[in-house]
Amino acid sequence: MTIIVNGARVTLPDDPRVSLLDLLREHLHLPGTKKGCNQGACGACTVLADGERILSCLALAVQYQGREITTVEGIGTAEALHPLQQAFVEHDGFQCGYCTPGQICSAIGMAGEIKRGVPSHVTADLAAEQIPLNADELRERMSGNLCRCGAYNGIVAAIAETFAETAA
Ligand code: FES
Ligand code: FES
Repeated sequence: MTIIVNGARVTLPDDPRVSLLDLLREHLHLPGTKKGCNQGACGACTVLADGERILSCLALAVQYQGREITTVEGIGTAEALHPLQQAFVEHDGFQCGYCTPGQICSAIGMAGEIKRGVPSHVTADLAAEQIPLNADELRERMSGNLCRCGAYNGIVAAIAETFAETAA
């Protein structure tokens, strides 16, 4: 059984009980994805599965057989940052950085949801052609990603700037 992680096909371990988060961190030595609560409450472990954001601590690796998983290591490098990573730097979107990989993955997944017209709890006009990416939408949609440092204002500014086009 295999799974594709950041474009590379990897074999799943024989023990099928490993979480996707532990597969990434312990087996594949990709420490970017963080283990915060390990129970679905903090968002630190967010990765993309076929472009959709998921909590890897709540996922069994075996559920994602044949699927494409993207972690923060697959989004940008120190030499070639993703535009969202660059915006996080410019807007002081992180302090300790522990939540940042999850925030980055979550925001990219969120932008895809907005583009597809998926409404949120605060979307006022469900018939609108394009959901506006305003602060209310952004905060609601990113509410599953906690930041103990309280870098929220920088995070909101970075995401809004990067994905302004999505909402235009
Ligand atoms: S570590 Fe997965 S949600 Fe907190
Ligand atoms: S930057 Fe420290 S937890 Fe968010």
